[in-house]
Parts: sequence; structure tokens; C-alpha cells
Amino acid sequence: MTKKGKLIGIGVGPGDTELLTLKAAKVLETVPVVFSPKSSKEKESIALSIVRPVLEKRKDYKRLMLVEPIFPMIEDKAELEKVWTSASEMIAQYLDSGRDVAFITLGDSSIFSTYSYVQKKLIGRYEIETIPGITSFTACAAARNEALVEQNDILTIVPKIDDRLEDILDYSDSIVLMKASRNTSKLENTIEEKNRPKEIYSVQNCTRENEKIIEGFSNEKPYLTTTIIKFGDD
Ligand SMILES: C[S@@+](CC[C@H](N)C(=O)[O-])C[C@H]1O[C@@H](n2cnc3c(N)ncnc32)[C@H](O)[C@@H]1O
Repeated sequence: MTKKGKLIGIGVGPGDTELLTLKAAKVLETVPVVFSPKSSKEKESIALSIVRPVLEKRKDYKRLMLVEPIFPMIEDKAELEKVWTSASEMIAQYLDSGRDVAFITLGDSSIFSTYSYVQKKLIGRYEIETIPGITSFTACAAARNEALVEQNDILTIVPKIDDRLEDILDYSDSIVLMKASRNTSKLENTIEEKNRPKEIYSVQNCTRENEKIIEGFSNEKPYLTTTIIKFGDD
């Protein structure tokens, strides 16, 4: 019987290829199949653009199986479930044929990553290894040459405003607002109006060629925008 392949989830870091871990690069130099989800047919996946220089150096590059399933940015749970199931079954076919599959994902694989849905569907059925990556928000703090949290500080990660925000604001010392392209003025006002001394900055396209650090919330909001709020009460 053919030995089944292994699924390797790889966090590829925030943008700069040099921020790939040695472990990730080593897998990408030899793995026979790379899954690189993207949000639409037209757009290249950011994760793929990060690892491309490593893949293109491979002597067997032409034989590499690169699969780019579409993971649309929708919120309809039933539709998403269909997409995740179909991508997982596609991966399962490669694994059943004995080939290892690398599933690449932006930043770290455990933070708002498409990989986690596939991981949940395939765990227990196949061997899985997950290689963490540098997450965007630690890269953003590094770009600013500042700590994100110190001593007993509490860090909160917020992907989207909802009615829990008001309570969270009082108990967080630093807040990472991910998916900041969806920030609303309501969210921004709620934070601005909080009567605590604070520093706010936004990083666009962190560690990429067009990286920009902006004081406050950013008016332009490209997809790769993260805003960091640091309260300083004492
Ligand atoms: C779907 S989440 C993926 C997060 C990723 N797994 C991580 O560990 O950073 C996408 C969000 O991550 C943030 N992000 C990812 N890469 C970034 C970068 N290079 N610069 C700024 N923000 C980034 C943005 O807030 C973006 O909307």
C-alpha cells in the first residue's frame, strides 16, 4: 500500500521573503505539491509572492505541482464550508497518492488563517506538521522599533468591531486591529474617545517594498493594514 503523504502548513511571514523560517524554506525547496489559496482568479496570492523566489530556485521547478484554490472573501458560512471541504478533499487526493503537500499561508498559520479550516478537516486522517511564521503584528511593532507589550501588559487582537469592544478597551494595554481595511469610523471614534492616554499607528504592507507607517488610523486602507493602539496609563 502506498504510504500517505504529509500535510505541512507553513506560515510564510508578513511579506519579506527573508522572514521565512529556515524550516519553511527547507520544506519549500523539496515538497512536490504546494497549495496556495487565493481570494480571486485575477489576483496573485500574497503568500505565493513571498515564497516564489525560493520555489523558482528549485531545479525541478517545472515539475512542481502548484495548486491555487479560490477561497473567496465571503461571510456566508455554508458557502465557506463548501469551499473548505472541496479544498481539503483536493489535498487529500494528493496525500493519498503518497505526495507531501505544503499549504502556504500569510504571516502565522494560527492567526486568522485559511489553513486552520483545512487543518481541522484533515487532522486525524493524515500526518500533519504546522510550521509557524512571523505574524504581521509583531512585524508591525518591529517596523516601528517598539515593543508591543511589556511587563504585565495585556494584548488584545481584534479582527472586527462588535459590541464587546467597549468592555475590551478598558482591560487591554495594547490592541492589534487586524483586517484594518474594514475599520469603520464608529470603531475609530470609540477608540479615540476612550479617555486614556494612547499612541495609535498603522502599518501598511509591512516588510514589503511599499511598507508605510502612519500615525493614527490610516485613511487609505489597503488589505494589508494593521493598526496598533498602545494605552499608557501609568
Ligand atoms: C487574514 S489575516 C491574516 C493574518 C496572518 N495569518 C498573520 O499572522 O498576520 C489578514 C490581515 O493580517 C494583517 N496583515 C497581514 N500581513 C500584513 C502586512 N504585511 N502588513 C500589515 N498588515 C498585515 C492585515 O490586518 C490583514 O488584513
